[in-house]
Amino acid sequence: MNSQAPKQTPESIRGMKARGQKIAALTAYDFPMTRLLDQAGIPLILVGDSLGMVVLGYPDTTHVTMAEMEHHVRAASRAKPRALLVADMPYRSYETVEMAVQNARRLVVAGAEAVKLEGGREILEQVRTIISSGIPLLGHLGMLPQHVLEEGGYHVKGKVEAEKQKLFADAEALAGAGAFGVVLELVAGAAARELTHRLAIPTIGIGAGPDCDGQILVTPDLLGMLPWFSLKHVKPKLDAAGQMRAVVSQWKESVIGGKLG
Ligand code: KIV
Repeated sequence: MNSQAPKQTPESIRGMKARGQKIAALTAYDFPMTRLLDQAGIPLILVGDSLGMVVLGYPDTTHVTMAEMEHHVRAASRAKPRALLVADMPYRSYETVEMAVQNARRLVVAGAEAVKLEGGREILEQVRTIISSGIPLLGHLGMLPQHVLEEGGYHVKGKVEAEKQKLFADAEALAGAGAFGVVLELVAGAAARELTHRLAIPTIGIGAGPDCDGQILVTPDLLGMLPWFSLKHVKPKLDAAGQMRAVVSQWKESVIGGKLG
């Protein structure tokens, strides 16, 4: 736990926009990563359903189950972060209002302090009901990874006027329903900038240009842990995979050579 820092809440994250403070958010899926990110002063940590690809080896996020999310949220929450711990609601876990509230509660019982759902006006009843049941909610608009199969890949949103207007209407609906912020994934930079100016709640971008109120990355992408994925929106700041392979093979050589390592 980063005991020096004040505990972050949905209100304090929202207040960062008002104070002009940028929000640097990252994902974590277990106890050590959550503790390390918290010690580095990250104010918002997301147990993302990207866990499907970066931890569990699935091809996309549509395979992640509620039980898997609960397992990883429990592990992350044992770090007792000062950061706000947000959990993704996985694919098909919020198809109806009843399912949405029941599954959001399960994630809170596992240790989440807020939940994130993908979508706008089409899930507004779910969003309103979760918030009115007392669970803070972060929206997610733009490219929605849980729709990757229908969409045939990961495409940038908000380049054409109709897409931009839909994005703005969805974001305003989420803000009106009480979301404390919204993730913008793969949104054209100009649309993300305009939306950030219009919206009272913070926008947290991933592949949405530099002008959002904050940025979020999948931590293994930032650290270069997964060299088999190459992404346009992130240049790894570390070659964790290369360093790990080098250290492991040096240690293996020392063991083979009869040394203690
Ligand atoms: O699942 C995830 O990690 C996410 C981020 C990409 C925002 O939703």
